[in-house]
Amino acid sequence: RKHLRGLQETTLAMIKPDAFQHTGQILECITANGLLIKNLRMCQLSVPQAEEFYKCHRGKPFFPCLTQLIASGPVVAMELVGENALCRWRMLLGPTSAEVARIKAPSSIRAQFGTDCTRNACHGSDSHESARLETCFFFIDRKLGMCARFRNCSVA
Ligand code: TYD
Repeated sequence: RKHLRGLQETTLAMIKPDAFQHTGQILECITANGLLIKNLRMCQLSVPQAEEFYKCHRGKPFFPCLTQLIASGPVVAMELVGENALCRWRMLLGPTSAEVARIKAPSSIRAQFGTDCTRNACHGSDSHESARLETCFFFIDRKLGMCARFRNCSVA
């Protein structure tokens, strides 16, 4: 039977250092929900790189805490593809605050693996434009064709 397939969309997902130990379960959740992992890299960002990634939040009271958290250990960045991938990944994440998520969306990723509003397990792009910029941030380098500016890291 012929059926219409929705537009394939790309978004950027990132497992933050506070949920790094739950990477296996988070990847399972992504694929079980029909999203495709097109690209994945594990790396550690410096504080300036974390500040660049979150530059739209510069000046907000939580900015120093957030960028220090992101630079505190390994992150897993992923390019996710699927129908409505941007929206679907944000639905899987749940509300920004893990504490709110545990009340409003107890099976969400942030409810299960997050701690509070800053240590909230994962990031998801909030618009198509930020998805494009954030994907470039981790995966595209103008000179090399592949992004190579982060410290790669191994699991202790
Ligand atoms: P925001 O874009 O508001 O949330 P979301 O990640 O759900 O799109 O905020 C971006 C990140 O900033 C958020 O994931 C964690 C951090 N943050 C804080 O640390 N404290 C806060 O009070 C808020 C609102 C965000």
